[in-house]
Amino acid sequence: MTKILKVDPVTPDISVVREAASIIRNGGTVIFPTETVYGLGANALDEVATRKIFKAKGRPSDNPLIVHISDLDQLYDVCSNIPVIMERIAKKFWPGPLSVLLPKSERVADSVTAGLPTVAVRMPAHPVALSLIRESHVPVAAPSANLSTRPSPTSAKHAIQDLMGRVDAIIDGGETFFGIESTIVMLSEKGATVLRPGPYSPDELASAFGEVDVSVFAKGKPSDEALVPGMKYRHYAPLKPLLMVPDKETLVLVSEELFGAGLEHAVLCTSDVAGRVKGKSIILGQGEDLYEVARRLFSAMREFDESGLPFALVHTFPERGIGLAIMNRLKKACGGTVVARGSEAIRLLTKASRLAAESMHSM
Ligand code: TXA
Ligand code: MG
Repeated sequence: MTKILKVDPVTPDISVVREAASIIRNGGTVIFPTETVYGLGANALDEVATRKIFKAKGRPSDNPLIVHISDLDQLYDVCSNIPVIMERIAKKFWPGPLSVLLPKSERVADSVTAGLPTVAVRMPAHPVALSLIRESHVPVAAPSANLSTRPSPTSAKHAIQDLMGRVDAIIDGGETFFGIESTIVMLSEKGATVLRPGPYSPDELASAFGEVDVSVFAKGKPSDEALVPGMKYRHYAPLKPLLMVPDKETLVLVSEELFGAGLEHAVLCTSDVAGRVKGKSIILGQGEDLYEVARRLFSAMREFDESGLPFALVHTFPERGIGLAIMNRLKKACGGTVVARGSEAIRLLTKASRLAAESMHSM
């Protein structure tokens, strides 16, 4: 049985938070909102509890979890040999959407780090998340609260769709603020390497870290030689094919072409081109505001799934600021392929629509 607990995202009722915290303390699982996406939490120091997370999500056991803390003292519980620079980093970016890989302490449950010597740690900025961790009196391990491979949940509704009946409680605190997961960094001698782009851009991070590299995997390189276990898995994906075209003009042309050929489809796009495409448009934002696109991205993927259409098109976004994170998630959702213009586009799209039609038959 999963209990749904509704709270105000800014001033959550403390008695409701305490109810959820007592579930965590007693070895249970609770889904809660963070400023990025919803997380599926359990006591990070309790091996039996953290295993429940992997089971509920269907997550491979070699893909480690992020540990969430509510104050800096907890950093010393979950890490050892903390580099001096962490104090400056924490002051500048925590609470906030930044996860840092640090040497793990003995106390962290083994399944959390999947046997790695490091643990990813972050202090979330969402009032509900902070209050839940504080009231639990333990660090909380939490991946995104979706079934493995599905888009991350940006509202309680998404988490309910995926995990109702598989966790002890879900705290409904409305929509998340960024809509895209935290930036993950690994400290290096000179500064840091971004392993997963997120709301904090490499430029912003440079102010405290020094030199900031972006891993080729974060830019969307196929990930057979993944640096991070999570990189090698299919991620953030709608159930049917999503195809990326290089720009908005190509999107309009391809959509017209498909319509002419009788191929129904959805189009994930900004509102400035929505009126010009022939497929069912699912709007990602007004155009210029990439934060708005980030907020809507995963819910647009779920809306596409619900549309029943066999495939969807999406255009690219500028890879700057949070756009780097948007493109990282989109490339993964598209299996890394950007469809070119003209005949190549039509060839790939015809193939994709045939595959989609076949998979509809087999469902
Ligand atoms: O915003 C977020 O980060 C959300 C919210 C809930 O905090 N969490 C989240 O967790 O996105 P998850 O599990 O969906 O993604 C965590 C990623 C995975 O790709 C995992 O492989 C990587 O972090 N990771 C965790 N610990 C690691 C470690 N010790 N070394 C390398 N990668 C690690
Ligand atoms: Mg995830």
